[in-house]
Amino acid sequence: MKRCVILSGSGVSEESGIQTFRGSGGLWEGYKLEEVATPEAFERDPELVLRFYNMRRKAVREADPNKAHHAIARLETHFDVMVITQNVDDLHERAGSSKVLHLHGELLRARSSQDPGYRVHLGQKDIFLGDLDPAGNQLRPDVVWFGEEVPAIAEAAGIVEMADILIVIGTSLVVYPAASLIHHAPLDCRRFVIDPCIPGSIPLGGWDCIQKKATEGMNELLKELIPE
Ligand code: OAD
Repeated sequence: MKRCVILSGSGVSEESGIQTFRGSGGLWEGYKLEEVATPEAFERDPELVLRFYNMRRKAVREADPNKAHHAIARLETHFDVMVITQNVDDLHERAGSSKVLHLHGELLRARSSQDPGYRVHLGQKDIFLGDLDPAGNQLRPDVVWFGEEVPAIAEAAGIVEMADILIVIGTSLVVYPAASLIHHAPLDCRRFVIDPCIPGSIPLGGWDCIQKKATEGMNELLKELIPE
C-alpha cells in the first residue's frame, strides 16, 4: 500500500466553525495568542490561561468534523495514511482517521505542569486551578506553547521521509519547526497543497496547488487519488 501523509493546520477545521490563527486579526477568542499561549503567561495568570483553554475546548466539543476530515479518513481505504496535524482539536479522530500525530498537543488532554510524563485524558472535564497531579503539581493543557519544544517533530520528519504522497492542507506554514516538514519529503513523492491562499513558502515546482477550501479541495483530490 502506498503511504499517504497529511500535514494539516487550522484551515482544515475552519469549515467546522473553529477559527484559524492568522485569519482572526491576531485575536483568538478575544485574546492575543502570546498573552495566553506561553509558559510565562501560565506563571503570571494561570487562571486566565486555563479559562482560555476551557473556552477553546468548549468550541471543539461543540464542533463536528467536516467533509474534509471525512475525506481524509476515507483515504485509508486505499492508502496507508498518517495524519500529522498542528491542530489541538480531535476532529480528524472523530472523522475516523486512525493514525493521527498531534504536533502541538491535544486540547482534550491535561498534563502536569512539572512532570511532562504525567498525562491524562480529560473526557468531559475541564482544567481548573487546584486540579493536581498525584505529586501535588497543578495540571495544565497538554499543548505546546510558544517558546516550548515540539517533542514529536523528529517522529513527524521520519514519517514524511517515507511518504509516497504528501497533502498539505489548511496551514500557512509560518510556524516552525512544523513548516520545515515539507522539506523532508522524498524526491519522487507526489505533493499536493489545498488552501484558498497557497502559502508563499510552497516551492514553485513539484507541487499540485488546489486553491480551494478544504472540503471542496479534498473532494477534488479524492476523485483523483481514488478513481470510482
Ligand atoms: P494559520 O491561521 O496560520 O493558517 C491557516 C491556513 O488555513 C491559512 O493558510 C488559510 O489560508 C487556510 N484556510 C483558511 N480557511 C480555510 C479553509 N476553509 N480550508 C482550507 N484552508 C483554509 O494556522 P496554522 O497554519 O494551523 O501553534 O497555524 C500553525 C500554528 O500556529 C498553530 O498550530 C498554532 C499557531 O501558533 C501552536 O499553538 C503551537
